[in-house]
Amino acid sequence: MDSAALETVQAWLREAPQIAVLTGAGVSAESGVPTFRDAQTGYWAQFRPEDMATEEGFRAQPALVWRWYQHRRQLLQGVQPNAAHLALADYAQQHPGRLTLITQNVDGLHQRAGSADVLCLHGDLMEDRFLDLPRPCCHPDTVEAGDPPHCPRCGNLLRPGVVWFGEALPLATLEAAQRAARRCALMLVVGTAGAVYPAAGLAHLARDAGARVVIVNPHASELDPVAHAVLRGTAAQLLPLLLAPESMLPQSVGGPSGA
Ligand code: APR
Repeated sequence: MDSAALETVQAWLREAPQIAVLTGAGVSAESGVPTFRDAQTGYWAQFRPEDMATEEGFRAQPALVWRWYQHRRQLLQGVQPNAAHLALADYAQQHPGRLTLITQNVDGLHQRAGSADVLCLHGDLMEDRFLDLPRPCCHPDTVEAGDPPHCPRCGNLLRPGVVWFGEALPLATLEAAQRAARRCALMLVVGTAGAVYPAAGLAHLARDAGARVVIVNPHASELDPVAHAVLRGTAAQLLPLLLAPESMLPQSVGGPSGA
């Protein structure tokens, strides 16, 4: 780890009145949640996103897709927020009103770590909604069990409450994220390949509006060219160092030199 770069970013964080953080699947990797695009371990090394994360894919193979989301839901019950989620939640508590947390993740781990008002761009894996416009007979409480559960009267299928490829992001959430990107003095981009828009566009927006953009990622990402600094390391390793109260920083990374 480049400790000079780390110290520079720590100083930028200290002086930034507003900070926006954009997280992706990498922030949950150390909790044991697979990412999408990591070679070998990512979901998209195993499945085609067109099959598992589009409306067409779901309509073509509803049982297969539903079971995959059920598998991911079960996996979440056995994992815990990691040091990166906790560092973000602690920082927000210690600096009220200063940090806006924007996530592409649907795993709820930021919220479980204690972060409030998380802007979830891609929905919530634990929620269900009806695939087609609900008719008067469609009630979430009276669905018939199955893969997927469905309305016993009209057959309308339940689907996970996530945003699939080709679908619109929740507008109010996206607009709030865009406002935060324009307003911040520093944007931390953590654990995302930066390959999916409009989420990745928030880093461009922040930079164009004059913010410093900092990437935290052990590997190259598509947003590296947008960044003022790239910190090569994992989220759970680096976020506690970046966001810890100054008094708790080890001398070698944040304290007075030579002390
Ligand atoms: N700490 C930080 N970053 C990590 C770690 C880690 N421990 N492990 C992996 N990464 C990085 C990878 O190097 C990669 O750049 O996390 C990134 C994960 O990228 P993706 O799997 O593409 O996840 P993300 O960018 O969140 O994907 C965006 O794509 O499939 C859709 O809807 C899905 O929200 C998702 C969107």
